[in-house]
Amino acid sequence: MATTYQYLIVERHGGVERVTLNRPDVRNAFNEHVIADLTEWAARAHSDDSIRVVVIAGAGKVFSAGADAAWMAKMAEYSHEDNLQDARKAAEMFLAINTVPAIVIGRIQGAALGGGSGLAAVCDIVVTESDALFGFTETKLGILPAMISPYVLQKIGASAARDLFLTGRRFDAAKAKEIGLVHEVVAPGHLDEAVDRFVAESLTAAPSAVARAKKLIPNVLGKSPADVIGITAEAIAAQRVSPEGQEGLKAFLQKRQPAWTPAR
Ligand code: COA
Repeated sequence: MATTYQYLIVERHGGVERVTLNRPDVRNAFNEHVIADLTEWAARAHSDDSIRVVVIAGAGKVFSAGADAAWMAKMAEYSHEDNLQDARKAAEMFLAINTVPAIVIGRIQGAALGGGSGLAAVCDIVVTESDALFGFTETKLGILPAMISPYVLQKIGASAARDLFLTGRRFDAAKAKEIGLVHEVVAPGHLDEAVDRFVAESLTAAPSAVARAKKLIPNVLGKSPADVIGITAEAIAAQRVSPEGQEGLKAFLQKRQPAWTPAR
């Protein structure tokens, strides 16, 4: 079923869904309409277990310039309650994308600034070109990286955040990789081939194991190993006797490909 969005292009090829931000005239900056589109898309992605991999991309020369400055400025005309409601919607969008059960790959060209870098932080794998620019530039505009902060902090930690959130300085792809925001940096012109490699790799992982492993990360993070024995034991006990766990273990022992492997 094709779903039409105002500012998103969504294409499906087998188990791979490609979601492209489509507001290139303002460098894919997001306002309330882009947020509504992405939130609606994420809700669908949560309920469609045939989606195994998602590629989030941006149309044009830049992945995303983050929050639309005109939309942010307009908030001065809103009541505090409406302003807060609007901010909560953006926070809920990041949460919904962060918890999509499929493997989410960010394809970043040109720049990912402010919420654009925040969008990178809610992806599982981020691939970029060596000439791309990153930055949590909000303080340069007199605002702050609030809704994206929990996800960015999980990726880059407090030390890098204290420098980059506070100065708002821009940084290059190599630095983005060094701090854990980006997973692979490729030469300009090689982005799609790198994304395709990650997509192919992702499709060889078992779908429900992927979803459960993704949930396990926040459930375990920051807790002491002794405190999570119940969670980790329950997770593996359930998965290894599940049809998918049994299929994967038997396929390995029988030296064959498991059923979820795409046909070549
Ligand atoms: N909000 C609203 N409009 C934006 C925008 C944003 N975050 N980022 C870019 N635009 C608009 C520009 O105002 C310009 O509009 P115009 O054509 O009416 O003048 C248009 O998009 C193109 O921007 P431009 O700066 O000319 O494009 P570029 O390709 O030379 O540079 C960026 C791209 C992303 C590096 C640059 O636009 C930029 O630094 N944007 C601000 C990013 C930022 O700090 N975001 C944090 C927001 S909280």
